[in-house]
Amino acid sequence: MIALGSDHAGLPLKKVIMKHLDDLKITYKDYGAYSNESVHYPEYGVKAAKAVANGECEKGIIFCGTGVGISISANKVKGIRCVNCSEPYSALMGRQHNDTNMLALGSRVVGDELAKMIVDTWLNGEFLGGRHQIRVDQIKEVDETGEIK
Ligand code: RB5
Repeated sequence: MIALGSDHAGLPLKKVIMKHLDDLKITYKDYGAYSNESVHYPEYGVKAAKAVANGECEKGIIFCGTGVGISISANKVKGIRCVNCSEPYSALMGRQHNDTNMLALGSRVVGDELAKMIVDTWLNGEFLGGRHQIRVDQIKEVDETGEIK
């Protein structure tokens, strides 16, 4: 199950990706926003992030105008590693090297087809572990304790 979230600016691209996930028969839960009314992206980034952090959803994809505000918000939730992507290379590395559990996309930055490619690349990417595990563990340590010993 994929957690989805967006503000009003991210909503059009979220709809494109919902259709794409439907085509791929990948299940998702949409944590809002549900209309074009102007809203505040932290509320929706955090709602989707909490669903990932508490295990209700295995990964999350979130959207705002740039992907910046909503990714920063999601990354404030303990246990979340969210990558904001506008090309597939970072999406793949974000899985292989950083074991990201959330992806952010900017609906005013990436076109629909590029966004689908980024989503596919990110969903199919596998964490490589090894030396990358040490670094991800350091991120987790900061998340838990506020420092790296
Ligand atoms: C909304 O206008 C816009 O600021 C928001 O969607 C996002 O791009 C912020 O980072």
